[in-house]
Amino acid sequence: MVFFKFGKPKSYLGIDIGSYAIKVAEVTNSLPLKLRSFGQIRVPQNGIIGAEEEIIEKLKQLFSNLKVKSKKGIISISSYTSIIKRIEISIPEEKDLDEVIKEEAEAHIPFDLNDVYLDYHIISSEEEKIEFILAAARKELIENIYEIIAASEIDIEAIDIDIISLSNIFEHLYSFHEPCFLIDLGASKTSIILWENNNIKNSRDISIGTNIINQKLQDTLNIDTERAEKIKLKGEKKEEVISAISYYIEETTKNIIETCLHLEESETKKIFLCGGGSFYYQIKNKLQKQLKKEVEFIKPFIKIDANEINEKTKEIIEKTGLTAIGLAAREILL
Ligand SMILES: Nc1ncnc2c1ncn2[C@@H]1O[C@H](COP(=O)(O)OP(=O)(O)OP(=O)(O)O)[C@@H](O)[C@H]1O
Ligand SMILES: [Mg+2]
Repeated sequence: MVFFKFGKPKSYLGIDIGSYAIKVAEVTNSLPLKLRSFGQIRVPQNGIIGAEEEIIEKLKQLFSNLKVKSKKGIISISSYTSIIKRIEISIPEEKDLDEVIKEEAEAHIPFDLNDVYLDYHIISSEEEKIEFILAAARKELIENIYEIIAASEIDIEAIDIDIISLSNIFEHLYSFHEPCFLIDLGASKTSIILWENNNIKNSRDISIGTNIINQKLQDTLNIDTERAEKIKLKGEKKEEVISAISYYIEETTKNIIETCLHLEESETKKIFLCGGGSFYYQIKNKLQKQLKKEVEFIKPFIKIDANEINEKTKEIIEKTGLTAIGLAAREILL
């Protein structure tokens, strides 16, 4: 008997390769979107390189624990390891878009184009004028990640950049047309996206993330990162933990404010937050007070069905799972 498979798969996996954790979300191919499962594995202290076998084993175990139904994965890499440029140009009559993008890449990407993968995301296009985001990532990095995911028995449908995936899911959730900021408070970086007309207008990464809490604890208590992470999550050694967290909050808030003021083109009234740093609520209050803008956490479950997910996991997903959900939803929302 011959079986034919028609149509799209029943669900997709979004795999967000963060510097702290690799997050996996399975979303069913339906509208409203439905989150089937969510899970994460920690990235080893020294990163992915050199720990490939360990990561492959852990990922296979995670897919098995989550009983994922799909093998179709969309992966993200960090904006921090990519080059992202916003470009606005007129397209001369005699040239096509591919040609223009290649020329712009040659002008803006500080690497040999043979060593990078290029992609672009059109923001607006009118007659001969076009505005787009150009993204480039080192081939070596992409190939390394590709091999890990393929060895974990996943068919890779696409690779995206984390902030673009976050923007896609934000657009689906809010359809927010007023200018605003989306801020992803990650472990190794804080990404600030200026959002306008329901699209990315500009973005900037600052090199401060929740990792600096661990660095502070390591320095003051003379311990390694793993121990620092445990102490932080358990709230042990209270005084030092409070001081390290306060330092992170102060530094992050200060840098976010500077960056927002630098990026802002027309008045923005609102800021949306996500990422592991949102566990520290004081950032929200400080930004609200100092920037005089309304600040709120992105709420994925206003539009995404998560009936099969328990409440505790939902709270973690709200803070750290948006990029993975955005990846899984990418093909469904196209
Ligand atoms: N329950 C929790 N309480 C406090 N902090 C938490 C909790 N769960 C996770 N975190 C923190 O969130 C941070 C990880 O955030 P996130 O998952 O957004 O990082 P990432 O996406 O891997 O990093 P990046 O995007 O910078 O590569 C870690 O510092 C971790 O300790
Ligand atoms: Mg992240």
